[in-house]
Amino acid sequence: MGGDIPPPVDQLAAVSLTNDEASSSTVLKARFSDRVRIQSILGRPDGGAGLAGQKVRISGWVKTGREQGKGAFAFLEVNDGSCPANLQVMVDASVSDLSKLIATGTCVTVDGCLKIPPEGKGTKQRIELSVVEVVDVGVVDPGKYPIPKTKLTLERLREFLHLRARTNSISAIARIRHALAIATHTFFDEEGFLYVQTPIITTSDCEGAGEMFQVTTLISTTEKLERELIEHPPPTEADVEAARVVVKERGEAVAELKAAKASKEAIMASVAELNDAKVFLARTEERSRLQPGLPKVDGKIDYSQDFFGRQAFLTVSGQLQVETYACGLSDVYTFGPTFRAENSHTSRHLAEFWMVEPELAFADLEDDMNCAEAYVKYMCKWLLEKRYDDMELMAKNFDKGCIDRLKLVASTPFGRLTYTEAIKILEEAVAKGKKFENDVEWGIDLASEHERYLTEVVFQKPLIVYNYPKGIKAFYMRLNDDGKTVAAMDVLVPKVGELIGGSQREERIDVIMSRLEEIGLPVEPYEWYLDLRRYGTAKHSGFGLGFERMVLFATGMDNIRDVIPFPRYPGRADL
Ligand code: 4AD
Ligand code: MG
Repeated sequence: MGGDIPPPVDQLAAVSLTNDEASSSTVLKARFSDRVRIQSILGRPDGGAGLAGQKVRISGWVKTGREQGKGAFAFLEVNDGSCPANLQVMVDASVSDLSKLIATGTCVTVDGCLKIPPEGKGTKQRIELSVVEVVDVGVVDPGKYPIPKTKLTLERLREFLHLRARTNSISAIARIRHALAIATHTFFDEEGFLYVQTPIITTSDCEGAGEMFQVTTLISTTEKLERELIEHPPPTEADVEAARVVVKERGEAVAELKAAKASKEAIMASVAELNDAKVFLARTEERSRLQPGLPKVDGKIDYSQDFFGRQAFLTVSGQLQVETYACGLSDVYTFGPTFRAENSHTSRHLAEFWMVEPELAFADLEDDMNCAEAYVKYMCKWLLEKRYDDMELMAKNFDKGCIDRLKLVASTPFGRLTYTEAIKILEEAVAKGKKFENDVEWGIDLASEHERYLTEVVFQKPLIVYNYPKGIKAFYMRLNDDGKTVAAMDVLVPKVGELIGGSQREERIDVIMSRLEEIGLPVEPYEWYLDLRRYGTAKHSGFGLGFERMVLFATGMDNIRDVIPFPRYPGRADL
């Protein structure tokens, strides 16, 4: 094919972009659609200039549209979500009715020819599309569209979860979030960890903090029964008695026929009637026992009648279950949604969030900290390499320091200090006049203000605090030789505070049994967990990284509700 003649749209190559190809003059069609992704045009090192002369089909949503030349043509800024940049699209009035194309939010599919824009118009575009045919339009009534061109606050955008993916900021965050997920799987795969899917519905409380959402069908079955009882009231005691009388009478009738040596047929017919009466009595008795309200035994809800035959919950952490795989497959991780019914209204808490939880067999707390640090650094490098364009958008719109922060974290060793040292630093700060809302003394759970002071003011970089007092940590953490602290660690980062919580696990059966007793937890629900210590116990460690907190940290966004597609928090669960 001659260099100047563009290939027809349907013959465009359908492979992903490599560096060599990106600088070539072949444009790359999306494999499962007849369009070309805007990223394949604008994401090239030459900004798409090398593609001038090519005929392409693109699809996307109009960010801004304006008619020019007294309605002779229109410029549309079109975005398809494949990259932060918009493609400038020029439509002549002879090609289409321009008025239906220019409203923000309009969806267009157009065929056109890529052109170098005329110079001197102050445009930064290195390529634009001159439309030959408008193939498809999804129109918008600008008077009704909830996401107008003028910027809405992030808070207001949360009212339109179903439309906010069309905004620059939320789509950039979506691409960053995707990149962090892929970085996560790549990191652990490269390090030889196996991805294990732990259950979402569980009967074990990992953190013991009583923050679990219950999973039950008892309420809906009770409501159904109550409706049914109103429509068909249950039999009274008199109805039952009447049914009993019928059974008695029919029994006597059978006896009489037998005594009178009646025919076999007559006796059999009478026995059949008796049986019918017995079945009716049984049903009447059963229905008479039906009562509105939840089923109860000894005044307590009878969960044996619930869906799973016992109480069940949404998981707060996949850790306990993933430990079973670590103690057999050695290095594993789980990455899934977790749920906490804590009534937190902060910008760092969600009721549904995602957690990455590696579990390392034959690893102690130091190995655990090394893994956490390497993993966070890996994600920072990954974003700088793969999503620099989106990071630039975040830097421009939200947090100008976010790129430098990624670079710093990727290249600087994290600080490490014990909880006791951390308390000392905080006490010294208080002595020098620093005011905290929460008192500082050995034994407290560090509050967010303490964590952020340590990482943002004192160290100005990520920090790992370890060896916490046992009284504020979960039962499964390994008791240190001092008998007072456990081998726990938290990774604290600027902007966010706690990003990771982890520990070496208590592998000694006698010690973990006495910890359960000390905390007052029942042993029975944890028997399976204790078996891992009874049979072939192994030193092991792990941690949980709050995935949304990582997205917050990377993007510099202020509110965790804006870095998950569908935020759930007290009072809100839209869609
Ligand atoms: O510190 P946490 O509670 O640790 C665990 O659940 C352990 N079982 C993890 C393990 O060792 N496998 O939670 C881990 C992380 C926190 O550091 C925080 O980043 C995040 O999960 N997190 C939340 N993120 C958003 N909203 C919430 N309500 C969160 N609670 C915890
Ligand atoms: Mg924690």
